[in-house]
Amino acid sequence: MADFIAAVDQGTTSTRCIIFDHDGNEIARSQREHRQLLPHPGWVEHDPVEIWSATCSVIEEAMHRSKLGAHDVAALGLTNQRETVVAWNRRTGVPYAPAIVWQDTRTADVVRELAASDRADSINRSTGLRPSTYFSAPKMRWLWEHLPELRADALRGEAAIGTVDSWLLWKLTGGENGGVHRTDPTNASRTMLMNIESRQWDDDLLAFFGIPADVLPQIAPSVTATGFGRTRPDGPLRGEVPITGVLGDQQAAMMGQVCFELGSVKSTYGTGSFLLQNTGDEPVFSRHGLLTTLCYAVEEGPTHYALEGSIAVTGAAVQWLRDQLGLIGTAAEIETLADQVTDAEGLYLVPAFSGLFAPYWRSDARGLLTGLTRYHTRAHLARAVLDAICHQTADVVDAMCADTAAVLPELHVDGGVTANSRCMQIQADLLGIPVVRPKILDTTALGAAYAAGLAVGYWSSFDELRENWQEDHRWVPSLPPERRATLRAEWRDAVARTLYSPGRD
Ligand SMILES: Nc1ncnc2c1ncn2[C@@H]1O[C@H](COP(=O)(O)OP(=O)(O)OP(=O)(O)O)[C@@H](O)[C@H]1O
Ligand SMILES: [Mg+2]
Repeated sequence: MADFIAAVDQGTTSTRCIIFDHDGNEIARSQREHRQLLPHPGWVEHDPVEIWSATCSVIEEAMHRSKLGAHDVAALGLTNQRETVVAWNRRTGVPYAPAIVWQDTRTADVVRELAASDRADSINRSTGLRPSTYFSAPKMRWLWEHLPELRADALRGEAAIGTVDSWLLWKLTGGENGGVHRTDPTNASRTMLMNIESRQWDDDLLAFFGIPADVLPQIAPSVTATGFGRTRPDGPLRGEVPITGVLGDQQAAMMGQVCFELGSVKSTYGTGSFLLQNTGDEPVFSRHGLLTTLCYAVEEGPTHYALEGSIAVTGAAVQWLRDQLGLIGTAAEIETLADQVTDAEGLYLVPAFSGLFAPYWRSDARGLLTGLTRYHTRAHLARAVLDAICHQTADVVDAMCADTAAVLPELHVDGGVTANSRCMQIQADLLGIPVVRPKILDTTALGAAYAAGLAVGYWSSFDELRENWQEDHRWVPSLPPERRATLRAEWRDAVARTLYSPGRD
């Protein structure tokens, strides 16, 4: 068996390739950002060709830096931003339109109709999801309705629609020359077209959204020795390597954080934040605004499910402070700026830039800054951004504890924002429990590597993977409970104002 596993993590803001060894150590990496296309308010797009070329360059560069060849790589794992939709022509390999990103709210009308219809409950039972612009099906319907050439090509069997994993898998396995059109159940569970118990596309939902089944990928288990084919020798790996693990990024982070046990929880802070709890081999339906989603499916094993609290904007609010407001030069500078003050002095930012996701599910909510006085400085605003990241996470933790009637002893965290020690201290203070970060922060890529390695026997069991997890840092709460309660109440008041919109019925 070759000595290494490669993982591609195609995220919302960047694409990375990391080569791992058997202990989960990073051997080499390469990362590249891609453009966020914002053509209209509420629209967020990516260029699928740019994403594919970033994927090729990061694979080539990571391989070059590691001084390894394809024969040294036992398997490739693929993980990706979820829900984002790509439509392309299978004969030419050319996408019909920019990818519609998960944060995009252009489908608000369809979603409002759906939320008002009597279908919302049955859709929740079959898909685990709630009406929201977040999921793929309304985006697919938008493409289908707006692209006559896509519809015409579909009649000739030439059109393909899928999430980003499918697009990259198809390209990596040969594209126009016999590429494999598949997806895994964790990605498919975010489309609003898959039944989460049968793990098959749901005929009723396909009909409702008007998507023909034959443009969609086939669903293979997330961890499979043969289900996803092999890379082509003329591709970026320059050799044939089996692709044996495919997972949505948040589910991959569950694997990377070794959340294999019932009840284990992690929170990943990237562009948005996503808190997932492993609920074992039965789907659990939330009464407090969380989603039911696939955690992973190993070939010939039972399906594993999770409860998920998805937050659209956390790290993205830091980027907004940097790119739109120009208050900081780099994301890391937010910590120095926020540390100029001891708290936000009553200032609250609710970053509902793409509506509010869990536990509110209001696609129509928009951002708000409350409590402003002339006393406030940009340092208070920076602090309010960090507070908002942590309050939103606390809202989701509250919902999860209410759903499962369990007390969370500590929160395992990962992702780019967790580099910010101030932010993690605020998180511990607002939750009243320790926040714990592992040594390897790139749990998303690591989880994809674990999935791929498990499928080919590079790792023999979940137990072996658990041994790789090591604590790096622990933040312990230091805020008096009464102060925490006050801050949480003030935050909830700010959120309530976000949900109010004059003239709406
Ligand atoms: N020191 C920091 N303090 C606060 N936020 C930070 C810091 N460093 C990075 N970030 C934020 O973390 C995010 C990047 O994290 P990460 O690399 O995990 O995301 P990503 O994987 O690229 O996200 P995605 O997968 O959603 O594309 C950015 O939104 C950035 O603003
Ligand atoms: Mg990521």
